[in-house]
Amino acid sequence: MEREVILHLIEEAYEAQKCAYAPYSHFMVGAALLTADDEIIRGCNIENSSYTPTNCAERTAFFKAVSEGITQFKAIAIVGNKEGEELDIENFTAPCGVCRQVMAEFCNPKTFRVILANRRDNYVEYSLEELLPLGFGPKDLI
Ligand code: THU
Repeated sequence: MEREVILHLIEEAYEAQKCAYAPYSHFMVGAALLTADDEIIRGCNIENSSYTPTNCAERTAFFKAVSEGITQFKAIAIVGNKEGEELDIENFTAPCGVCRQVMAEFCNPKTFRVILANRRDNYVEYSLEELLPLGFGPKDLI
C-alpha cells in the first residue's frame, strides 16, 4: 500500500481513538477500516461495567460497515495506548484473537493489510495471514 494512504488511515484511527469509551481499562483504541471502495469506517473500543460485553475497536469498525451493507475491505489501521500515555516506539497494539477471526470472516488473508501504528508516522504492516496463520474461515464450510 502507498505510504500516503497508510498515513491517512492512521490519522483516521487516531480520530477514532478520541471516541474510545474505556472507563475501566483506560486503554484507548482506535481503528480505521479501508473498504474496497476506498471509504473509511472508524471504530473505537466500547467497554461495559459488566466487562464481557466490551467491544474492541476493530470489531466496532467491522460491524458498523457490515451493518451498512459493506463487506469488502482492503486494510485496517489500529492505534492503542493507555489514556494520556504513549507506547514505546517499538511497541504496537495488535488485534486480539477474536478480532482476527472477525477479519478472517470478511477479508482475504493474503491481501488484507493490518497496519499497527504507535505514532502518526511510525507503523508496521502485516497481512492477515501473518497474524492468523492456518485460520479457520468461510472456506472451511463450503
Ligand atoms: N482492545 C481493543 O479495542 N482492540 C485490541 O486490539 C485490543 C484490546 C480493547 C478492549 C478493551 O476495551 C481494552 O482494549 C483493554 O483490553
